[in-house]
Amino acid sequence: MEKYKTVLVTGGAGFIGSHLIRYLLEKHPDFKAINIDKLTYSGNQDNLKDITSNSKLSKRHIFVRADIANKSKIESIFKKYNPDYLINLAAETHVDRSIHIGAKEFIDTNVYGTFVLLEAIKKFGVERAVFVSTDEVYGSLGLGSKSKFTELTQYQPNVPYSATKAGGDLLCRAYHFTWHLPIVVTHCSNNYGPYQYPEKLVPFFTLRALQDQPLPLYGDGKNIRDWIYVLDHVGGIEAALLNGKPGQVYNFGADEEHTNIDIAKIILDMLGKPHSLLTFVKDRPGHDRRYAIDYKKATKELGWKPKYKFRPMLAKTVRWYLDNKNWIKKIQKKTGIINPHIDLWKPHKLN
Ligand SMILES: NC(=O)c1ccc[n+]([C@@H]2O[C@H](COP(=O)([O-])OP(=O)(O)OC[C@H]3O[C@@H](n4cnc5c(N)ncnc54)[C@H](O)[C@@H]3O)[C@@H](O)[C@H]2O)c1
Repeated sequence: MEKYKTVLVTGGAGFIGSHLIRYLLEKHPDFKAINIDKLTYSGNQDNLKDITSNSKLSKRHIFVRADIANKSKIESIFKKYNPDYLINLAAETHVDRSIHIGAKEFIDTNVYGTFVLLEAIKKFGVERAVFVSTDEVYGSLGLGSKSKFTELTQYQPNVPYSATKAGGDLLCRAYHFTWHLPIVVTHCSNNYGPYQYPEKLVPFFTLRALQDQPLPLYGDGKNIRDWIYVLDHVGGIEAALLNGKPGQVYNFGADEEHTNIDIAKIILDMLGKPHSLLTFVKDRPGHDRRYAIDYKKATKELGWKPKYKFRPMLAKTVRWYLDNKNWIKKIQKKTGIINPHIDLWKPHKLN
C-alpha cells in the first residue's frame, strides 16, 4: 500500500489555499491533501477545478466542507485522516468587512477556530503545523520611514481583522510554549495573483476598470503595501512546514512597496483605460499607512526568498482575470454584490 504524507489544509478553497494545494500536490507526489473549507462567500471549489478534474492529482485531494470552529467535526476529521501536517489558512480575510459588517465572524473563525485547531493538535498530535498570518498584526509604519517589520516588531493591530489574526497568533505562541506543540507562525505581506476573490484591490480595480467604473482610492491613495506574488507566499509556507523551527515566527515579503494609486494607474494603463477613472473616497477608519517586511530570518533559516517581480506578475494576473470572465460571472451570480461597502464610497476632493 502506498504511504502518503497527509497534509490537512484549512481554507483550501480560498485564494492562497487553492494555490498551496495545487503546488503541494504537483511538487510532492508523496503528499495527500485533505482540504477543509467552510465555503464562505470567498471559498470557491472552482479554484481547484483543474485538480479535481485531473485523474492523477484528484486521487490525492479530498475535500471536506467543515467549519474550523466546529470542535466535534474537526476532531472527527483528525480521527479519520490522522494528518502528519496541518496548515491553517481558513480565515475571514477582508478588512473592510471586519469594519463595516462586524467583527463577530472574524472572532469566531480567526480566534475561536484557531483555538479549536490547536486543541485538536494537542489531542491528536501532528509532526508540524503552520498557522498562516499577516503582516497587518504589526500595525502601521510611517510613510517617510525606511523601517520594516521584523519578527520582533511589537503587535499593534489597528482593525478588527488584524486584531483577530493577532489573537490567533498569540494562542499559537502560548500552545507552543505551554504544551510544546510543533507550531510555526508566518506573516506575509499583501498577495496578488489569479483566483483572488474580487473584493481585494487588484482584481477589484481590474474589474472596475474593465466596466469603465471609477476606481475608488481611500484617502489620498498613497497607502503603501509590500506586494508579493501568491506563489512566493506558497513557497514560503512550504519552507516553513518543512524547515521551520517549532515556536518560531517567519516573515515573508517581496521588497515591492507600491502605493494604491500607482497600482491603480498601472492597471488602467495595462487595460488602456483613462486615469480619469481614479476617484478619491473618504479614508477607511484605522487605515494603516505603510507595511514593509524584513524577511532576512526566512532567508537565513528557511532558505526562502521571493522570486517573482511585480510588474510582469501583475500583468499576468490582470490577463488571467481578462481570460477568466466566467470564473468572475459565477461568483457574481452566487454572491450578488462583490464589495458590499461600495455605497459608502462617496467621491471626495483632495485639498
Ligand atoms: N491575501 C493576502 O494578501 C494575505 C496576506 C497574508 C496572510 N493572509 C492569510 O492567508 C490566509 C488565506 O487568505 P486568502 O487571501 O486566501 O483568503 P480567502 O478569503 O480567499 O480564503 C479564505 C478561505 O477560508 C475559508 N474559511 C473561512 N472561514 C472558515 C471556517 N470557519 N472554517 C473553514 N474554512 C473557512 C473560506 O471559505 C475561504 O475558502 C488567511 O489566513 C489570511 O489571513 C492573506
